[in-house]
Amino acid sequence: MLKDKVCIVTGAASGIGLAIAEMFAAEQAKVVMVDINEAQLKAHCERLGSEYVVADLSKREDCKNVVDVTARLFEKVDILVNVAGIQTVSPIEDFPEDKWDFMINLMLTAPFLLTRYSWPFMKAQKWGRVINLNSIHGLVASEFKSAYVSAKHGLSGLTKTTALEGGPFGITVNSICPSYVQTPLVDKQIAAQAATHGISEEEVVSKIMLQKAAVKKLLQPNEVASVVKFLCTDEASMITGSTMTIDGGWTAA
Ligand SMILES: NC(=O)c1ccc[n+]([C@@H]2O[C@H](COP(=O)([O-])OP(=O)(O)OC[C@H]3O[C@@H](n4cnc5c(N)ncnc54)[C@H](O)[C@@H]3O)[C@@H](O)[C@H]2O)c1
Repeated sequence: MLKDKVCIVTGAASGIGLAIAEMFAAEQAKVVMVDINEAQLKAHCERLGSEYVVADLSKREDCKNVVDVTARLFEKVDILVNVAGIQTVSPIEDFPEDKWDFMINLMLTAPFLLTRYSWPFMKAQKWGRVINLNSIHGLVASEFKSAYVSAKHGLSGLTKTTALEGGPFGITVNSICPSYVQTPLVDKQIAAQAATHGISEEEVVSKIMLQKAAVKKLLQPNEVASVVKFLCTDEASMITGSTMTIDGGWTAA
C-alpha cells in the first residue's frame, strides 16, 4: 500500500524519525530523509537506500528547499511526517530567548511551511497524509518546558486547522502524542536524573518519568512508526484532525 509513495520525514537521522523512515523504506516507499545532522543522516540513508536533504529546519529557505528537492526528484509529495524537535528545560525567568525563537521555528513554523509547500501536490492528486509528531505536551503542560509545550500546543492547532482544509481533497492531517519514547535523547535524560537523584535508572523511569502513567514503561520508536503506518492507509481516511495519544494512560487521569 505504501509502495512508491513519496514520503518526507524530518528529524530522520535519529530516534523516532529514523524508525519512521525505516518503516517506510521496508514498505518500499520513496523516502526523503531530512535532518541537520549530516553525518548520521548520510550513514542511515546509505543503509536504507533513501534520498536525503541536509537542512536546518529553523530556517525558512531550508524548509522550501526540502520540498523543492523532493519535487525535482519525484514530481510529487504524498506523505509528510514532521518529526524534528528538541527539548530545553528552564524556569520561565531564565528561559533563553534565542532558544524560544529557535524551538518555535523548528517545531511549529517548520511544520507549517513544509505543509504549505507540500499541499499543492497533495491537493492536485486528491490524496495526502500529513502527520505531525506531537507529544502529550501538545495536550497538557509540565513546568519548565514553556517553549516545548507552547510549540506542541500550537502544533495541535495547526493539525486541526489543516485537517479541516484538507477534508475536501482527500488529505488527512493528524498528530501523534506519545509519552516518553526510548530514544538516545531520553536515554541521556535517564542517566542524568539517576546521577542527580542518586537512584537507579529503573527508578527514574517508573517513579519520576512515568509517575503519571498507568503503564510504567517507555515507548519504543517502532511503536510510534506503526501508528504512522496505519494513518497512511486508506482504511484511516476518516481519521483526521486527531491528536492521537500513545501514552500508557498518562492523560487519561
Ligand atoms: N523521545 C520522546 O520521549 C518524545 C516524546 C514525545 C514527543 N517526542 C517528539 O518526537 C520528535 C523526535 O524526538 P526524538 O526523541 O526522536 O529525538 P532525537 O533527538 O532522537 O531526534 C531528533 C532529530 O531532530 C534533528 N534536528 C534537531 N534540530 C534540527 C534542525 N534545526 N533541523 C533539522 N533537524 C533537526 C536532530 O538532529 C535529530 O536527528 C520531537 O519532535 C519530539 O518532540 C519525543
